[in-house]
Amino acid sequence: AKYTWVEKDTCIACGACGATAPDIFDYDDEGLAEVIYENDGNHGVTAIPDDLFDDLQDSADGCPTDSIKIADAPFNKEG
Ligand code: F3S
Repeated sequence: AKYTWVEKDTCIACGACGATAPDIFDYDDEGLAEVIYENDGNHGVTAIPDDLFDDLQDSADGCPTDSIKIADAPFNKEG
């Protein structure tokens, strides 16, 4: 499994990730992306299933500020 988390400090609300992977990313009130998969709450603790890996990688590759982080272990961020 993979885990993902959006670094909001560097996200510029470009809106690409939610279009590429709508099952994984959505936006907060300021338009900043966050991980919403299974109510992750942008903590990066929810395992992303294999069938979403392509969308996940495409999102990370397409983010202009490299704000989408991916790892093999949970991030345990505060959101
Ligand atoms: Fe932000 Fe990157 Fe998504 S800038 S809106 S995390 S594609």
